[in-house]
Amino acid sequence: MPNSKPDIYITTPLYYVNSHPHIGHTFTTVVADILKRYYTQMGKKVYFLTGTDEHGEKIALAAEKAGKSVEAFTDENSARFKSVWDTMEIGYDDFIRTTEERHKKVVRNLLQKLYNSGDIYFASYEGNYCLGCERFVTDAELVDGKCKDHGTEPKKVKEENYFFKMSKYSDALKKEFESKPDIIRPEWYRREVLGYLNDKIDDLCISRPKERVSWGIELPFDEKFVTYVWFDALLNYVSAIGYPDDSFKDYWNVSEHFLAKDILRTHTVYWGTMLIAAGIPLYKHLNVHGYWNMSGMKMSKSLGNVIEPSAFKEKYGDEGLRFFFLREMKWGDDADFTIERFISRYNTDLANNYGNLISRTLGMVEKYYVGQDSLSVKNNLPKQHKLKDSLKTLIESYKKDFSVCEFYKTLECMWALFDEANKYIADSKPWDIAKTGNKADLDAVIMPVLEVIRITTYMLGPVMPKVSKSILSELGTTNDTNVSFDDFCSWGFVDKMNSKYSNKKFFNRIEEEKPEGV
Ligand code: MSP
Repeated sequence: MPNSKPDIYITTPLYYVNSHPHIGHTFTTVVADILKRYYTQMGKKVYFLTGTDEHGEKIALAAEKAGKSVEAFTDENSARFKSVWDTMEIGYDDFIRTTEERHKKVVRNLLQKLYNSGDIYFASYEGNYCLGCERFVTDAELVDGKCKDHGTEPKKVKEENYFFKMSKYSDALKKEFESKPDIIRPEWYRREVLGYLNDKIDDLCISRPKERVSWGIELPFDEKFVTYVWFDALLNYVSAIGYPDDSFKDYWNVSEHFLAKDILRTHTVYWGTMLIAAGIPLYKHLNVHGYWNMSGMKMSKSLGNVIEPSAFKEKYGDEGLRFFFLREMKWGDDADFTIERFISRYNTDLANNYGNLISRTLGMVEKYYVGQDSLSVKNNLPKQHKLKDSLKTLIESYKKDFSVCEFYKTLECMWALFDEANKYIADSKPWDIAKTGNKADLDAVIMPVLEVIRITTYMLGPVMPKVSKSILSELGTTNDTNVSFDDFCSWGFVDKMNSKYSNKKFFNRIEEEKPEGV
């Protein structure tokens, strides 16, 4: 349980434990981690929740198939998610499992509350059930009779169950989404949701008879049934922060959910109506991204086209992957994940462009300032400079675009600045100036470029924490001080930098003619 009020409360979906973590899950979790580091850099207090979704028919069947007890199976696979996130150095503050008592207690409590208020009733139902999605799907959602995400035919299910009066709250939910233009990012997903809400919304079947599915949270008012897995899992976002204790509001009021479009309907129609019925305000923002595809198909366990993050990290490291994630996917759109594309981005953007700017600049400092103990940056930096103006534009983009997940905009702007700095060096020819021995002229060229490297590297800290730290320390400065973002990014903030370098290469080109895949 958290114990102090955050400025931002970040959540990822709870991942199903029938699967092992792949690049798709990793993306959402890495973005949450990057934003935690970003907001922390901005001086904000962040609380970050992730975890695993462990009940329901799909998980029970997967355990059976694996020949394990469902408890052992869920323990093992939940631990796997946790260990991969630890390997990837994800800075989550809490990892919740839906099988934990702290969560089950809240689910039972809310079910009883809605039952008492008349929002849950008993009836019989018939519909098409997609096991992959763990929900009933409408005919309009099927393509050639199959689920478009899982490529499987839903099965007909007819049974008596408990229902949540979702339809009763659909107008209220529509009003909420209409009156909050930026509640869903990007905006076009909000329009998609308003489209769902224009259609008739059915009530939600929120139980499963134990005789068919026993792996779930027993209904507090009927022991013959367990809770439907979505009605259980969605509540994690409040069970982890102490709902129904009043203190949960400190977190909830600043909640930012991160997820892909596959679970947009459940996070708007289901979760939204559940919140209204429970008397809880809607989340602050729903940040919805597209799919990582491989060969045009969503990367997923059921399609068998997954890349494992740990194997990827072992081969290529994880910092390049974090950069690639943000640079390559426009928030909301789908993107293609191929090793070739990753290598090309890595070599072009990191090794050639940024990496080269660093090594040539530090190489020049080493050569032209030989004999000096350190570089006096602050006193020898021109007050006005075109690189300073470009940095100002970049800092504005970082502040604005990162906070609304438009990462690629800032990165494009940053790489344009690296191009500008590389060209500036080529045009200014410091190697000729050095021959004249005119130190002031040399400073006027070198110091602004060093400032570009220092400030951009600091801004890349949330994206590539390890390499950013090691470049800054090579420069003779650090990012883990109590200095504010604005101070650290101000032109000439650092008095002195190193004048001697280790000739370390921060990004080695990946030389692979034909990547084997991982
Ligand atoms: N258990 C539910 C979520 C319950 S939240 C209360 C679930 N689990 S899941 O394991 O299927 O995870 C889905 C999420 O994983 C997506 O919304 C997204 O965050 C991430 N991704 C899984 N595959 C992905 C891609 N191929 N591309 C992008 N994100 C992907 O749904």
